Amino acid sequence: MENIEWSTLSFGYKKTDFNVRTYYRNGAWGNLEVSDSEYLQVHMASTGLHYGQEAFEGLKAYRGKDGKIRLFRWEENAKRMINSARGILMAEVPVELFKEAIFKVVKLNEKFVPPYGSGASLYIRPLLFGSGPEVGVNPSKEYTFMVFVTPVGPYFKGGVKPVNMLICRKYDRAAPHGTGTYKVGGNYAASLRAIVEAREEGYANSLFLDAREKKYIDECGPANFFGIKGNHYVTPKSDSILPSITNKSIITIAESMGMTTERRKIAVDELSEFDETGACGTAAVISPIGKIIDPETNKIYEYCRNGEPGPVQMKLYRKLVDIQTGDAPDEFGWISIVE
Ligand SMILES: Cc1ncc(COP(=O)(O)O)c(C=O)c1O
Repeated sequence: MENIEWSTLSFGYKKTDFNVRTYYRNGAWGNLEVSDSEYLQVHMASTGLHYGQEAFEGLKAYRGKDGKIRLFRWEENAKRMINSARGILMAEVPVELFKEAIFKVVKLNEKFVPPYGSGASLYIRPLLFGSGPEVGVNPSKEYTFMVFVTPVGPYFKGGVKPVNMLICRKYDRAAPHGTGTYKVGGNYAASLRAIVEAREEGYANSLFLDAREKKYIDECGPANFFGIKGNHYVTPKSDSILPSITNKSIITIAESMGMTTERRKIAVDELSEFDETGACGTAAVISPIGKIIDPETNKIYEYCRNGEPGPVQMKLYRKLVDIQTGDAPDEFGWISIVE
């Protein structure tokens, strides 16, 4: 195993030994190639660079107490990447090729999978983009699919802490009937000003509203939003948010614990009715929200008044993390072992 200070690692890029790549040309994917270079040679007229034909995924590998490496629901990421490819007219990466690529790249970089108990994990980043030249606005005829990995530290160092969010009324991340439901780079470019401005004002992230009416909660930076009222879990239903695999998993866990769940529009006004709120996604699993500030009305919605994350979301968090690391039985069939 690499000699790395795992617990202090950030959620950032760290070089590993290998990545894998394959190219789509003349209507077919080629064989998977292994590379030790951190660079790609890209055509200067590629559609990925000019017209944003680019999609990515993010998932993690965890080492269990038994030393085995576990992947969490990778098939969901494969399916979502196919959906993203369809959304912006790229060649689709078949599920089998996606599987071969992620299992291979994890195995090749096995020594970078952090030890059990460190809170760190190996982040897996599949990337698909149009690599053929076009000058007119057209989908590319050639595509590159590659996967790299990088070890990342625990999101919350020293325990899960509530974070504050700023409602964004100045910018939209995604348009109704636009590309918000795909994991494509353009959505992230569109969100950067809002996220950086929120951070500069001391908030963890920006809480986006629906672009049409600015009335409903959409997404929480690069994560889905949820609210909890008693034994009830609610998360936004919207055509412009990314279907989070973490959120879907939390809903299954919540129901298995006897909670009721609902996907529906959540009006900003309803924020005052929740006992707990949070953001969920692969990076942090769950980020409990302490306060939400609306810059238009100056309203402050406050949760976790004692500075501690809400008990219901912590129960959901614990169960999900325990399944991911193998501490709890894989009762929903979400785990694949990298042999
Ligand atoms: C915009 C956006 N929403 C939500 C999520 C959460 O999705 P997942 O739980 O699949 O990581 C992500 C990615 O992490 C994201 O980028």
